[in-house]
Amino acid sequence: MTADTLQIEIRQTEVSRLKEIDFNNLGFGRNMADHMFIADYSDGHWQNSRIVPYGELSLSPATAALHYGQTIFEGMKAYKSPQGDTLLFRPTDNWKRFNKSAERMCMPAIPEEIFMGGLTELVRLDSAWVPSQEGSALYIRPYMFAADAYVGVKPSDTYTFIIFTGPVGSYFAKPPRVKIETHFIRAAEGGVGGAKCGGNYAGSLYPAKLAQQEGYDQLIWTDAREHAYIEESGAMNVMFVMDGKLVTPFVSDTTLDGITRKTIVAIAHHWGIPVEERRISVKEIIDALKEGRLESAFGAGTAAVVSHIATIGYEGADYTLPEVAEDSFAKNVKDYLNQIYTGKTEDIFGWTLKV
Ligand SMILES: Cc1ncc(COP(=O)(O)O)c(C=O)c1O
Repeated sequence: MTADTLQIEIRQTEVSRLKEIDFNNLGFGRNMADHMFIADYSDGHWQNSRIVPYGELSLSPATAALHYGQTIFEGMKAYKSPQGDTLLFRPTDNWKRFNKSAERMCMPAIPEEIFMGGLTELVRLDSAWVPSQEGSALYIRPYMFAADAYVGVKPSDTYTFIIFTGPVGSYFAKPPRVKIETHFIRAAEGGVGGAKCGGNYAGSLYPAKLAQQEGYDQLIWTDAREHAYIEESGAMNVMFVMDGKLVTPFVSDTTLDGITRKTIVAIAHHWGIPVEERRISVKEIIDALKEGRLESAFGAGTAAVVSHIATIGYEGADYTLPEVAEDSFAKNVKDYLNQIYTGKTEDIFGWTLKV
């Protein structure tokens, strides 16, 4: 079986909700498209691949994922090209990362034909929901959760895999103010920081709320041992341009292996810009800020794309970053990425998939 030959039972919605959507005021994460893909895991294999109208699930109060957090997800986007094609960006990388998360959380892998077959059929069916406005896209949320109705800590025997989608605009309304967190941690070596599991995000909410009360939009996490090294941000990897180089923390088991991050690293290599993927101390960044050597700092992620950081807060002091220059790497890579996403420039890397 391949993604093209996957048997999917399709039950279409009787009334589309498309006309209720204000495509000029999308926001992020509020609107869901008409359909969702579902597959069930039981008796040791995936079955019942189906597409149904987007709607509520019926769950037992004892559903294991609700108690013990055995749940993982992905985030990806589809874009509309000027020719009207729908393009996915590096979707098999999301599939691979999903299965890496599944392994860490003791969940079954999802076969490529189910992930890709379900994804492409769903996006094709709801292709009218893919926005074409500048800066907008169809956000795609594949996820899996432990479905056993059982109380007790053990891996579930049954799982549900779902993909739903929804049109989105920008993730940040304006360049974020970020705070370097030096008390709480997101992940420690040997933990689950490298997995895209629900608990990582739940644990980040309280420190993020405290930072918001201080006037920041996001956190930059530091290492669990010393709080001395930069890890990543809430839903983005972080990248710095300084001394003519692109510098970013290497990926370890405490950070998410971001697809946008590795895409930007590949583009920088292609453009002949020196790249350093290494440990970055907070001190190094603060020194570069004070000495005016930090050209830019930005977050890289599917939702945020390339988000320039306006201000970095550290131990009570705020450091304002320079305005992003017209010919800067950060601006150029953001523009180039958006062109590749939307098929406005030739995809010489083979990253996009037309559905
Ligand atoms: C914690 C975290 N780091 C980094 C990223 C960026 O990853 P990607 O570029 O694959 O979206 C995300 C978003 O998915 C994230 O949630």
